[in-house]
Amino acid sequence: MYSMVENRDFQVMLEQTIRAVVERYGTPVYIYVKDIIKHQLTRVKKVFDGVKMLPTFACKANSNPWLIQLFSKEGFGTDIVSVGEYYASELAGVPSERIVWNGNGKTKSEMEFLKDKVGFVNVDSLEEAQRWADFQSEAKFFIRVNPDVNPRTHPHISTGVRETKFGVHVDLIDKVLNTLRKQGKRVLGFHIHIGSQITEVEPFLEAISIGVELSEKYGFECINIGGGWGINYNGKELDLEEYRKKVVPLVSNFELVITELGRYLIGPAGLLVARVEYVKRTPYKTFVVLDAGMNALVRPAMYGAHHGIRVLDPKEPREECIVDVVGPLCETGDVIAKNRLVTIPRYGSLVVIENVGAYGFSMASNYNGHPKPPEVLVDFSSNEIKLIRKRGSVEDLFRNVE
Ligand SMILES: Cc1ncc(COP(=O)(O)O)c(C=O)c1O
Repeated sequence: MYSMVENRDFQVMLEQTIRAVVERYGTPVYIYVKDIIKHQLTRVKKVFDGVKMLPTFACKANSNPWLIQLFSKEGFGTDIVSVGEYYASELAGVPSERIVWNGNGKTKSEMEFLKDKVGFVNVDSLEEAQRWADFQSEAKFFIRVNPDVNPRTHPHISTGVRETKFGVHVDLIDKVLNTLRKQGKRVLGFHIHIGSQITEVEPFLEAISIGVELSEKYGFECINIGGGWGINYNGKELDLEEYRKKVVPLVSNFELVITELGRYLIGPAGLLVARVEYVKRTPYKTFVVLDAGMNALVRPAMYGAHHGIRVLDPKEPREECIVDVVGPLCETGDVIAKNRLVTIPRYGSLVVIENVGAYGFSMASNYNGHPKPPEVLVDFSSNEIKLIRKRGSVEDLFRNVE
């Protein structure tokens, strides 16, 4: 794992901070550690040292403007997929020319609204290219290519094999290019994004090589290599040194390299802290029931994703047991961890769910009438605890009911 997080002093500080946050804001609560975000930022920058680039932060991973602002201040733009994510970028002060607009379902009203508000557009299909004929835009256009490369990740977050809905098949590139050029659009390069949580370098190497070959064929000097770097949820993460040595030389001569990392930048920095309501023992199984479930963190229910779980204040004398850690929702699938060995908690113990900074809050819902948790940013270097989103309320849930 990360040396910083494994450090004993860091752990003590983290635990004290978690308790202070819970005392102020209750549970469940999302906590982001600024020091870890900075650490991840530095690691990413080091990989691309010397490359002419525009790094962007993929807002879909986490669209809290206070967090986006941390990246923006370091020169990052944003990768957005909706008007909502554009607003998040605007609130964070991201300049338009650093915003990249992605998506396979861009609507006419989105095009009308965003056409002059973004620096870059990644076109996903011939049909989208044709629709752009109705809209003037000074943005720089890229064509998202489907390279038909298997990223060896979960099928739901695999985007670059030919059966997925994303990108332009290589045989259709000429048509898309001509369509956009006839409209007077400036097409600067190709975009390749093959999926998320990729922990091996090989799929990146394969896909980006295809992007580079195509760029040479079409005379493009800019390329967007997407995101997808895998973090350490359960023992394996992308080897950045190997990526630096093998992948970066492929693109180091380009005039502009755009990246769209989300998970890698924010995932390890986030914790979800929940409280134990019950330890329910049945003749078949033991359940640790939390006050947060798939409404607050859907990844385990949706992808069978693994998140580390730590029990603060376990029951004494200590007992370790294989349990299902579950939420309070009326779904059997409402699981945070299945068949996991944990130290048995007691009523009221705090449980820390790790690596939830990406696709945590951004995928949270109000299912079963639960308001969303608050979000808090902590900074160990200045001892600051800052509420960056208030807890949702039941009034929020029904605000739009006529
Ligand atoms: C087009 C595009 N770019 C970037 C990302 C960010 O990916 P990640 O958070 O894995 O870096 C995604 C998410 O899958 C995406 O669809």
